[in-house]
Amino acid sequence: MKIGILKETKKGEKRVSISPKIAAQLIAKGFELIAEEGAGSDSSYKNSDYREVGVQTEERGVVFKEADILIKINPFDKDDLKLVNEGQILISQLFHKSDPELIREIAATKASAFSMDAIPRISRAQEMDVLSSQSNLAGYKAVIYGAYLMKKILPLMMTAAGTIKPARVLIYGIGVAGLQAIATAKRLGAIVRATDIRPETKEQAESLGAKFISVNGENNEQNSVYAKAASEDYARKQREAVNKSLFKSDLVITTAFVPGRKAPTLITTEQVEQMKNGAVIIDLAATEGGNCELSKLNKIVRHKGVKIVGTTIAPESVSYNASELFAKNVFNFIMHLTEGNQFKWDLEEEITDETLIVHKGEIRKT
Ligand code: NAI
Repeated sequence: MKIGILKETKKGEKRVSISPKIAAQLIAKGFELIAEEGAGSDSSYKNSDYREVGVQTEERGVVFKEADILIKINPFDKDDLKLVNEGQILISQLFHKSDPELIREIAATKASAFSMDAIPRISRAQEMDVLSSQSNLAGYKAVIYGAYLMKKILPLMMTAAGTIKPARVLIYGIGVAGLQAIATAKRLGAIVRATDIRPETKEQAESLGAKFISVNGENNEQNSVYAKAASEDYARKQREAVNKSLFKSDLVITTAFVPGRKAPTLITTEQVEQMKNGAVIIDLAATEGGNCELSKLNKIVRHKGVKIVGTTIAPESVSYNASELFAKNVFNFIMHLTEGNQFKWDLEEEITDETLIVHKGEIRKT
């Protein structure tokens, strides 16, 4: 089977779905590979890097024509779908619940489409989980970007001219991104506090050196990987518990999501107005509406001396590593779905069932 690597067309996207290293691993498993010319150029991978490991590089139309499996990071769009042929297998993120029209258009091509953002949160799927691999980098980059925007440094610094106190960092949401943000802020020498609606994250935050802010009356189930929407009572108690730290923080990173819903509002305008002059909020949930009431996607909002950054900065901003990790997830996913280079189409199996959104023109998931 021939795997086609497409250049991403989404504005601002710099990643590529398969790096040359992973391409080589797929070739070693018996697949043929064809890449669109320039597919990896924004991630620092040259056409020659692909050719050196045995990937054929061609213009876009040829890739669509020759490949059995087409791979992208972002959803296939209308222009892509004009070139898709019956029977081809599409692998990308599709966010199918938020774009049913796209799914109908894919089905009309009589292709099959797997959505990598629909991979279930189960242990054996961890190595294929693109949301985790990319969130990890987002958590790291959020701290680096926040540090860049701050007018303070993060570590304690003792100098002949005096001692600089370490900065205070507060993290909302201790999932994959939040944990990496804690680790990064700690490594840079900050004093770190963190909070999450899932009580079991206390131990995880503390193991990385953060102080956990508990909220009395947590309303979430123990040991769940899916957060539930918080009640108004919980939200009020959370504000009370966190305010003291929030008002002293120099940098706040918010990463709280509830699968399938708008992101919860965790920081109100009123709270922002009580924060320190010069404080920075990096809101990683801005794509889902934001955790801060004042966030605007891809904008820096300045409100009473506080900068609020609603951002999708990462993982595009670290496209080399993000592509590497995405590619490894895709490799593991393809290995899971195939046997002897042929797709197993085991529709009873959980990962296949959850991710196969369109099967040979038939919509399976809405
Ligand atoms: P996420 O991106 O869905 O949410 C981030 C964090 O925000 C979560 O920890 C969530 O509890 C928290 N949150 C939601 N509402 C909140 C509120 N009102 N106040 C405070 N915090 C709130 O989560 P992510 O990063 O995907 O991870 C969640 C868990 O799932 C983690 O334990 C992670 O290790 C696990 N996971 C497991 C996978 C697997 O086993 N294949 C794959 C992905 C995640």
